[in-house]
Formats: sequence, C-alpha cells, structure tokens
Amino acid sequence: MAADTGYADLSNPDTFVPGVPFETFDRLRKEDPVYWHEEVDGPGFWCVTRYDDLVAVNRDNQLFSSNRRTALFMESDEEMLAQQRLMMLNMDPPMHTRYRLLVNKGFTPRRVAELQEDIRRRTNEILDAVCEKGEADFVVEMSAELPLQVIADMLGVPQEDRHLVFDWSNRMVGSQDPEYLTDPELAQNASMELYSYFNQLSAQRKIDPKEDLVTALLNAEVDGEKLSELELDLFFLLLSVAGNETTRNAISHGMVALSEHPDQKQRLVDDPSLINSAVEEILRWSSPVMHFRRQATGPTQIGDQKIEEDDKVVFWHISANRDETHFDDPYSFDVSRSPNEHVAFGGGGPHFCLGANLARMEMQVFFAELLKRLPDIEVSGQVDRLRSNFINGLKHIPVSFTPTKPAAAA
Ligand code: HEM
Repeated sequence: MAADTGYADLSNPDTFVPGVPFETFDRLRKEDPVYWHEEVDGPGFWCVTRYDDLVAVNRDNQLFSSNRRTALFMESDEEMLAQQRLMMLNMDPPMHTRYRLLVNKGFTPRRVAELQEDIRRRTNEILDAVCEKGEADFVVEMSAELPLQVIADMLGVPQEDRHLVFDWSNRMVGSQDPEYLTDPELAQNASMELYSYFNQLSAQRKIDPKEDLVTALLNAEVDGEKLSELELDLFFLLLSVAGNETTRNAISHGMVALSEHPDQKQRLVDDPSLINSAVEEILRWSSPVMHFRRQATGPTQIGDQKIEEDDKVVFWHISANRDETHFDDPYSFDVSRSPNEHVAFGGGGPHFCLGANLARMEMQVFFAELLKRLPDIEVSGQVDRLRSNFINGLKHIPVSFTPTKPAAAA
C-alpha cells in the first residue's frame, strides 16, 4: 500500500505526529478519492477524502451505519461492541433519534445564547490567571480550561472536580499518546473511574435534583423506560469527552493559525466584527476531529467506487475541508472567508455535532476577549502534537505577550 503509492499510512498514529499528511490527502482527492487502505490491526478500509462524498456518506445512515461496528476507527470484540452500541454516537435511527432528543434541549441556539455571559466571565477569569506573567502554556492554562469549565457546569460536575474529567478524557482520547498513557489498560481504567464518579454524582442528584444534564438524564425515559446505569455512564462519557477535547483543540489551532498569519490576526484585532467568520475559518482550517467511521449495510457505491456489504468506510473531515473543488484557495487562511460551508462538525445527517452551537459560542467569546486583552499574543516555542489519527490535537503551545493587569484591576 503505502510503499507502492507513496501515500502516508493513515492508519498509523505516528504519521500524524510531525503534522497532518496533507500531501497524501491532496493526492488521494485527485488520484483515488475512495481509496482502499490496508491496515495492520484491522480489515482495511475505504478512505473517503472528497467533500461531496463525505457529505453523501454522512447523510445516508441507512447504507452507512454507525451501529454495526461503531463510528470509531478501531476494531472492538463483540462484547465491547455490545457496550459501545449503547452510546448515542454509535446508534442508527430510529433508536438514535430517541436518545438524541433526551439531550437536544441543552444545546439549542437559545440555550447556548443564555450561556454567553457566563462563558465571557469564565474566559476573563482564565485570562486574569495568566495575563501578568507574559507567557503561558496556551493549551494547559487557557484553551483546555474554557470547554472543561463549561461542560462541567452543564453536566453538574462541581468545578473543583473538573480536572478529574480533564485527566480521564486525556487518557481516553490520548490513549495512543505516550504523554497521556503508557499502558492501554489505563484507558479502560479511565472510563471505569469516570463511570464510578458519575454514579456517585447521580446518587446525589436523585436525592437533591438540580438544573443540570445529570439530573435530566436520570429522569429521562426511552420508550417508557429509564436509562440503565451503563447507558447513563456512556452518555456522561460521550458528553464529557466530546465537549472537551474538540473545542480545546479548535481554540489551540486558532491560536497557532493566527500567530502564523499575523496579517489575518491584525485584521481581526482591527475589526472584531470578523469574529464569526474567523471562527468558521479556524474550524475549517483545523478540523479538530479528523475522521469518523461507518460500515456499509449493503452493496453500494461512493462516487464511482463499488462498496461491498460490511466494508469499513472512513471519511476524513480534514481532507474535505481542503477540497479545492469546494473551497477557493483552500490552503489560504482567511478570517473573512465566505462562503465557508466546512464540515468540521460533520457533513449533515443525524449525527451532526450536538455541541456545534456551544463550541462556536465558546470560540467566538474566547477569541474576542483574548485579542482585546492580549492583542500581541503569539506562539513563542515548539508546538507539541498529539499522537493520533483521530483527533487533530495539540498538547502544548508556549505563548508570550505583553503582561497586563487582570480585568478587575484594569
Ligand atoms: C470544535 C469543536 C467540535 C468539533 C470539531 C466536533 C465535531 C463533531 C463531529 C465531526 C461529530 C459527528 C460524529 C459522526 O459523524 O459520527 C460530532 C458529534 C458529536 N458531538 Fe461534537 N464537536 C465539537 C464540539 C462538541 C461539543 C462542545 C459537544 C458538547 C457536548 C459535542 C458533542 C457531540 C456529541 C454528543 C456528538 C454525537 C452526536 C450524535 O451521535 O448524534 N461536540 N462532533
């Protein structure tokens, strides 16, 4: 495979450590847009790299199932699969629709708009904690903090426990990265610890209900039945991981992109009304979730390529968001890009990101406040990437800026 064609091995997390292999994606879109990729630890998979094909696969959940072998790249045994299928991410309609309705209300544009001032206050507290130092590790001290605090609040996790969630989600999502994990068993332990934490929190909420997602899920019913303990655990796991890593990485990539494109950063500093289009461009540019997976439920076709029943299909947001047939000059970072119908949150269909409105709001508020208060912030050292072919992750970004007084003092 890789040896004959010169394509990078997209199944190997090491490939992504030096950077996203954009050259391979560019060639695949042109030469073999639905490419059969062999795999050492799996059956091999179709690599879908063009925008239109990604959208078609995303929208056809009858032919491309999230339930058969989950939406995740890695292979699982039957016992693991049975568990994973109880998570909304890995369900197909109509079951998926029933579960999604249970949590939809917490993420509507209206509900998210109500969180705006709280998100602004939290952002300013995060900036206050670093602004006098003149330097920081942007990921650990800044970009990780906002999504973590916001999702902890929504779920009902007390703020003093939020770093437990940070650690568990790092260990699960970063399970292929040596900084977060040296032993694969630790990923399993992380999910067990998260379950046991949420079981205790649920027990408290049963006695003392609150206006949070834990309480809402405890009271929720599907087809007249309450969720089982395992279903609840998997919901908590999904919401805490999906709401965290993704937004953290989007903000981190935004910092790097603005630093690498000082002209674009200056435009945004000079004209804050560009914030919404800048956030969309950061999402397109970074594609924090690089792929998801489906399984064909019958013989079909993607573009001109025939697909057999039960084939593994992996579609790459990171490639579709650089598709030259869809975006003018896709390798130029343009904070005023319009139109910008990127697929960072998925290409539509039932699994379209539940947290898209929330992530957008967090990013808009964060960058607006950051550039107001630390307009000369820039990357000042080596950026450390996550070892993963799934999450386009940044672990550490040294930044420097002119020290300023905390907002309250100013
Ligand atoms: C920039 C940040 C984010 C990105 C790039 C992102 C990306 C995605 C993508 C691509 C999917 C589609 C999954 C599929 O096709 O199978 C998805 C689903 C999902 N996202 Fe996000 N996400 C982000 C933020 C969030 C946030 C803040 C939450 C809040 C809890 C969240 C919760 C979810 C959930 C629960 C799903 C599964 C939806 C379903 O199965 O119906 N995401 N996300």
